[in-house]
Amino acid sequence: MGIQFNKASGIFHIFSQKVSYIFQLTPEKDLIHLFWGRKLRDTNVKHLYRPCLRGFSPNTHSENIDLSYDTLAMEYSFYGCGDFRSPSFQIKNADGSRVTRLKYAGHTIDAGKPLLAGLPATYAEHESEVVTLSIHLKDEVSRVEIILLYSVFESYDAIMRSVHFKNGSDSTVMLNKAMSCNVDFHHSSFEMIQLSGSWIRERHIHTSRLRPGMQSIESKRGVSSHMQNPFFALSGLETTENQGDVFGFSLVYSGNFLAEVEVDQFSMTRASIGINPFNFEWELKPGDTFQSPESVLVFSSDGLNGLSNTYHKLFRDRLCRGEFRDRERPVLINNWEATYFDFNEKKLLDIARAAKDLGIELFVLDDGWFGQRNEDTCSLGDWVENRKKLPNGLNGLAETINKMGLSFGLWVEPEMISVDSDLYRSHPDWCLHIPGRPRTESRNQLVLDLSRKEVCDWLIETLKRVFSSAAISYVKWDMNRNLTEIWSKSYPPKQQGEIAHRYVLGLYRVMEELVQAFPGILFESCSGGGGRFDPGMLYYMPQTWTSDNTDAVERLKIQYGTSLVYPPISMGAHVSSVPNHQVQRTTALLTRLHTAMSGNLGFELDLSLLQEQEKEIIKSNIKTYKQIRPLIQFGNFYRISSPFDGNITAWMHVAEDQSEAALFYCRVLAEAHAPLETIRLKGLDINKDYRLKNFDLFFQAMGYEEIYPGDVLLYGGFRLTPLIGDFQSCLLIFEAVNE
Ligand code: DGJ
Repeated sequence: MGIQFNKASGIFHIFSQKVSYIFQLTPEKDLIHLFWGRKLRDTNVKHLYRPCLRGFSPNTHSENIDLSYDTLAMEYSFYGCGDFRSPSFQIKNADGSRVTRLKYAGHTIDAGKPLLAGLPATYAEHESEVVTLSIHLKDEVSRVEIILLYSVFESYDAIMRSVHFKNGSDSTVMLNKAMSCNVDFHHSSFEMIQLSGSWIRERHIHTSRLRPGMQSIESKRGVSSHMQNPFFALSGLETTENQGDVFGFSLVYSGNFLAEVEVDQFSMTRASIGINPFNFEWELKPGDTFQSPESVLVFSSDGLNGLSNTYHKLFRDRLCRGEFRDRERPVLINNWEATYFDFNEKKLLDIARAAKDLGIELFVLDDGWFGQRNEDTCSLGDWVENRKKLPNGLNGLAETINKMGLSFGLWVEPEMISVDSDLYRSHPDWCLHIPGRPRTESRNQLVLDLSRKEVCDWLIETLKRVFSSAAISYVKWDMNRNLTEIWSKSYPPKQQGEIAHRYVLGLYRVMEELVQAFPGILFESCSGGGGRFDPGMLYYMPQTWTSDNTDAVERLKIQYGTSLVYPPISMGAHVSSVPNHQVQRTTALLTRLHTAMSGNLGFELDLSLLQEQEKEIIKSNIKTYKQIRPLIQFGNFYRISSPFDGNITAWMHVAEDQSEAALFYCRVLAEAHAPLETIRLKGLDINKDYRLKNFDLFFQAMGYEEIYPGDVLLYGGFRLTPLIGDFQSCLLIFEAVNE
């Protein structure tokens, strides 16, 4: 890994084990993008920078009429002097103009990676594992200064980019757009891949061929959202899961974002991601600075699985933090779908007891434990236990549950306030609102104004009290609506364009304080399921409730899509009752178990009502899960067959040392005289033999072998027995025998 600058040629070369990223400093002090892709032996790629005269493209430099910002691949683009594509940033100068012209003003290359003040970001454990390039740019007229930050790790083929702005003038300017990165590709032969959806239908994979003009995804909802994930990829037209080039862009941010992909008149593609400029305006007084969130750029020439592999490892090992980063995550029971708001201590203890017998490790008390919260119309903000439901308080309940041998976890929704709450009665102005306008409610609640320091301070203090009031070892942090009436009484009119981002910064401060104060608590983020499943949240909370949709068939698409960027260890996956509460589908218990066993396994049903036979199935699968848990949570993940393409979904988890693997396979609908399925496995060692660990009488009777050479499983595949009926799955576990 490294970053090199060749003074003679002006070439900057950022490289990791398999990737090169190259741009050039020209004699005119412009930064021109040249190449991003497979690692190059030589950086002699200057011929890719060939200025070319084009009609209606303004001259950038009068002495060279071939040179126009309109036709160049810019490293970080600016508006107003010839580049008509969407700019990387925009400033409203003191004179009202919005033109800037950036020139190189120096650079440094340093070991390590600086923290981004107040923002989540990937980090190094030792300075030696990462190197950072800081390029200084300046607009001579407005005296706005920009630092482009690039970091590259030793062990991950990813490039982290962010941008730092400084007003070096003595007048105030307004920052209206501040994208975290920009990449200008020399062609447009790409498909754009995005993860889009809705509540209970998150992160479905959508792919479309690029066309001339702008294609973009965004969130204006105040959070990253169920609708769009802060990620997109550009893949070559021939790229598959296992081969071909693909370029990924992910934003470490949890608020409004924009990802732009613009194909220009010369079939060049400009790609960028950053804070959404919609309604964004940041006041920069003389000397003020602004730091953009971090973007994580990943190139893979090994197809989409290669891309995911890099994101998974990087996010798992160098974005997630805390003592749970490297620890196996507990199997949990959550009472939400079992009881909703209708519970008392006895009911909870019945469920906990049943959970313990099945091998579950953690009991999570969900919504409804505080204030007068017997339905979703009240009490958010009143974080005091309801003694009618819990006569022994949280502490008493946690103690009893601990005595049973389970640890105890708690649900909170800290960012919210119910109008019917003591908090609202004493602080009606603490919510986001605009005086004189109605306050738009969603799920009967309003949003606390986290751009205000005093509100954040209160929240930190309140949650510290709650989290220390009982033996709490897990917290589920929920957020069940999006932001409206984004305005804050603490800021003057000209700063109201800052509030959406200030909300996110306030949230990050609150979470940082709490995760530092409670290192022994495993935090799981949630926003009506996966409405804020983003890298920003993962920095504070190493796992996320993937979706409120617990139907096994719906989960195939949700988990498959999520896996494009996020590792299995970050995904909460629960077994619930049938008919499923979200889609009313009835699936086999085993299928529900297998699907949930591909993430952080949990349960979300009244376990005290189970039949004996169901208990046996659950017990034995929890036992199996615990055996393969290191493999699921810390292994490599491979997608094999897509639920978006057909009836069959298959994926695999393979241990880093290739000693063990689990193949998950599900056929959604039964087919008459179904095709015989042979699945080619992934990620195994061709030189090892693998024993089918769950080889049983059934497999024996079907004439299966117990041991298979790795190369046969990879290149020949594994012939599956036809599954009978709808929504059927199997989970095959292989272990290497000739270690
Ligand atoms: C939405 C979450 O996603 C659910 O799991 C549950 O916690 C409810 N909120 C509780 O209100």
